[in-house]
Amino acid sequence: MGGGAVFFSLEPVGGSVNDINPRLMNFYKVVRDSPEELIEVAGGYRYDKEEYYRLRSRFNIRPVDLVEDAALLLYLNKTGYNGLYRVNSKGEFNVPFGRYKNPTIVHPERILSASRLLRDVDICCGDFLYLLEAAEAGDLCYLDPPYMPASSTAHFTDYSAGGFTEEDQRRLRDMCVELNSRGVVFVQSNSDTEPVRDLYTGTGFELVSLRTRRMISSKVSSRSKGHDLLITNSRAS
Ligand SMILES: C[S@@+](CC[C@H](N)C(=O)[O-])C[C@H]1O[C@@H](n2cnc3c(N)ncnc32)[C@H](O)[C@@H]1O
Repeated sequence: MGGGAVFFSLEPVGGSVNDINPRLMNFYKVVRDSPEELIEVAGGYRYDKEEYYRLRSRFNIRPVDLVEDAALLLYLNKTGYNGLYRVNSKGEFNVPFGRYKNPTIVHPERILSASRLLRDVDICCGDFLYLLEAAEAGDLCYLDPPYMPASSTAHFTDYSAGGFTEEDQRRLRDMCVELNSRGVVFVQSNSDTEPVRDLYTGTGFELVSLRTRRMISSKVSSRSKGHDLLITNSRAS
């Protein structure tokens, strides 16, 4: 799910979304089930360096109140450096304060409309293999794993403690093969790199290269323009 760009753009009715990050999936559950409370709690936070570090520490002690947990995640996403989500080896969120001109932390209308879109959606939290149980013939699955790095010197971005290894990329490939054999249609985005192309050689899936611009970077000029790869069995099915 991540930021849910494809979900919120397609606006499907029903279905299920999944991510391994429990704080993120709690956030979407709160958006779905308690949007007004979320707006109220997050609306009480100020954009200010001291407040940022106080709330970041609060987030790291993992509040028991799930609405507060979601409000803190929203606040940190809107006021932290570049909107990054990064944790250290202990699982602590460690993104520094971000400098913005009057950032809007809460857009009530966006939260309410996201809440309506999520109304009949199953919000899951676990490894992507959950799909092997959840998906049925005729379903469409969009998969957006942490990207395989362009070279061995590049590092994986740690979206969740532990990161996403080459072994995870192989498990994902094997799952796509299994989904295909069951008549499930999938579309996966990944980086357009040799290791990814190698992984899918011989599967018969269609590989489509797309020129892209990375969305998370400090300066527009330094956002790397690369190529993403869409991997799909949609035409075969
Ligand atoms: C590239 S991001 C997704 C971006 C998202 N599609 C968007 O529009 O913002 C990758 C996501 O995969 C999640 N993830 C990492 N390992 C996973 C796993 N084993 N199973 C499921 N999700 C995983 C991360 O927590 C992260 O949110």
